[in-house]
This record gives sequence, structure tokens and C-alpha cells, in this order.
Amino acid sequence: MRGGPWSQLIGAVPLARFVAEDWQRRPLSVPGGARAELFSRERLDQALLAISRAPAAGGAETHIRAMFARRGGAAPAGDWMNVFEASPAQVAGLLEAGASICVHDVHACDRELARLAASLKAELGFAGRVGVSAYLSPAGEGLEVHLDAQGVLIVQIEGRKRWRMDDRPVVACPPANALLCQGGTSAWTEPLDPGRWPPPPARDPGSFHEIEMGPGDVLYVPAGTWHATEAITPSLGLAIYFAPITLPTLLENLLWSLFQDRPEWRAGPPVAPLLEETSGALPAAVADYFSARLAELRDALAAIDPGGLALGSLWRRMLVAAPPPEEEPGGAGETDADAPIGEADLLELSDELPVTWGAGVDRDGRPVTCIYRGEDEIGLSGDARAFVAGMMQRRRFRAGASVAWADPARPARWSEVQAVLEELCRRGVLRRAGGDPAPGGEVARDA
Ligand SMILES: [Fe+2]
Repeated sequence: MRGGPWSQLIGAVPLARFVAEDWQRRPLSVPGGARAELFSRERLDQALLAISRAPAAGGAETHIRAMFARRGGAAPAGDWMNVFEASPAQVAGLLEAGASICVHDVHACDRELARLAASLKAELGFAGRVGVSAYLSPAGEGLEVHLDAQGVLIVQIEGRKRWRMDDRPVVACPPANALLCQGGTSAWTEPLDPGRWPPPPARDPGSFHEIEMGPGDVLYVPAGTWHATEAITPSLGLAIYFAPITLPTLLENLLWSLFQDRPEWRAGPPVAPLLEETSGALPAAVADYFSARLAELRDALAAIDPGGLALGSLWRRMLVAAPPPEEEPGGAGETDADAPIGEADLLELSDELPVTWGAGVDRDGRPVTCIYRGEDEIGLSGDARAFVAGMMQRRRFRAGASVAWADPARPARWSEVQAVLEELCRRGVLRRAGGDPAPGGEVARDA
């Protein structure tokens, strides 16, 4: 059976083992883990062309950075490398002049990479942002010793590149990138409050280990791990990055979902002219406002079940990335999603966007099962858990067979199941499958 994006990318290392032993803990090198044809210089050129035709086409995040390394080992802070924004037309000349090129968020201009990033995000269960950047380097060029604020999966596509790296992160979830400087010191690349954020511990690059990457090799570098790179031959690599979402951001979304229908919460604190202020105390109207909202907040938080549907729905929505760019018109096997479904019709889960689901109770305590696809949330009332579990497990099935998945104590009628299946087809969760059922698969047993 075809595995998920993780097993296709790094089949030699099971995802569960990676999460338990390596994720955010230590670098992991998987020689030959990926298909080098995951990407190519031709596809990068197409992405650059798309950016040059419509600079905003890939979204505001897509941009090109050129980086000239300064020679002579570790540099003083702020004197590490010359970095500047470049246009697609400048890329060839800059490479010729010895620059390394980063096309940040190239996935926004490449449908396959967008799908890879979205699938990895869903398969890993990562609530933050997953994106893909491409790095081009001429032979002999690369980046001096630094650490990144985000963990990355590196996939070497063309050429060979040498990585020198520490064996573990020196700081957990760094607030910024950092550089190793002259004299065994370090510095953040952004101005941070030094009282709260002392520079990360420096390490002796002499103790770093070396990894030479060739086409198809994969390397996981946890956030906060010192590393340096140097292309041995002209090199093209992908960096799939994992940018965390902070808990306050997640809670902000939760609060908004709880209180957006309340004018007091939408309006913020009341106006309170300070013309006559003498005491330094909070104006009574403002203090009363905070008091009332905090009381509501305490009640609302106390009522939230950590394993329930409200948080589950929020979290599952965060596992789904925005749709890939430019829908392909009329692909093979595309059929009318609005046509009635017959019991003999063959259906399958759409893989255009990751689909997840959760079951729980609504605010009134009634059972509800939710399916999440992209920004879409489809709530099925009643206890549809067994039906949805059956659908997610099989992925490809005869429509009529799904009647049997319902709870035996509450057998379903075909007309009920048919209505749900047609709604799921309209919403893009299911699609009609072309061709024959998979031999020996669930379809054959159920049909
Ligand atoms: Fe890096």
C-alpha cells in the first residue's frame, strides 16, 4: 500500500520513531532517504519565472535572498554575510558571482511542493507552519556557522554539499537565528532584550561532525543546532521548515471562537478619559470591565474539556495548510461532484488536501462527529463516529458497503448514508474513483 509523505520521504525511519527519538532532540541523517526527483532545477526555474511574471503570485512570503559568505572563519556579529533581496532575473548573475541563493517559500509557486508540505504537516500532526525553501550554491560556497529558529528537513536534490554540525541543539525553540562569532561568542541575528535572551551557548566548531550529502539524501536539523554548509559541487537543496505556532496564538483563536458573538469582547475596554487622574489606579470602568470579562473567561475555561471537541476542532484545523496554488483544470478522473450516488459507485478520499476528523459532544452534550478539510469543517449530527472511522480506514470503497459500518445497535438506511456521501462529495472530502477496485483491498471485501 502507498505510504504517507513521511514514509515516501524517509521510509527507512518510521515516523513514530523519529518523533520519539529525534524530533527537536538531535540531528538525523538518512542517506538516500528521498527521491531526488522530488524537485529539480527546471522546476525551480519555472517557480522563478512565475515570481517574475507576478511577484505576488506565490503569496507575500515568497522572496529571493542572495547571500555572500565572508571568508576567514567565524565573523563578528553583524558582519557574517552580506544578505540582500534579489529578483528572479538576478539569480544567474549572483550565482556566477559566488552568492548562495535562497528562494524562500518556493512551495507557494510549486503545486507538488505545496502538497508535500501540507501532507507532512497533517501526517506529523504539526500545528505550526510548514513550508519549503530552495537553496542554490556554487561550488565552494555556503553558510558560516549559525543556528536556526526553525527545525528543517533538508533534501539534497542536485550536486553535493558538506554539512558540519553539532550533535544537539544548544537552545530549545530559539526566539531567532543566531551566529557563531569570533572569540567563541555568539549573537542573535535580531535585536532581543539581552536580560531575557542571553546569546545561545557557543560551541567549538572543531567538535562538529561532517556529513556529505548527495542527491536523495535527507538530513533533519533541529531548531537551535549549530551548523555550517559548503557546496562541494554546484548544489540545489530543499529545506522543509517547521515554524511553531505559539500557545498564546492558539489560545487567541480559542478565545475568539468562544466570545466573538459578544459585543463586550469585540469592543475591548471602555473609554476612560484620564483628564482628572490623580491616584494612579485603574479607572473604575476599566477595572469593572476586566473583572467581568475575567469572570466569564474563568467560567468558559473551566467548562472546556481538554480532550473534547472544542479544542480538538481548533487543533485539527491547525493541522491543515492552505490549499496548493493554481488548481489544475479538469484532471483525469474528475467527475460531477453533484450527481446522485448509487450503491455500486466506487468512492475514495480526495488527496487534494489532508482530511482529518474528530468525535465528541457539542455544547448541549449531543454526539457530533466533525470532518476537517482545509478551512472546511463538516459536522455530522448523531453518532456518525463508526461511519467516519470506516471511511477513513478504508479510504476507497463501494458506496453501498458503507451502510454496514454504522453502529449495529442503530443500523443506517441507504438513503441516510447516500445523503451524507453526496454532501461529502460536494465538499471535496470524497470523489468518485475511476478504474477498478484495488485487487484484494477493502473494496473487494465490502463490494
Ligand atoms: Fe541553517
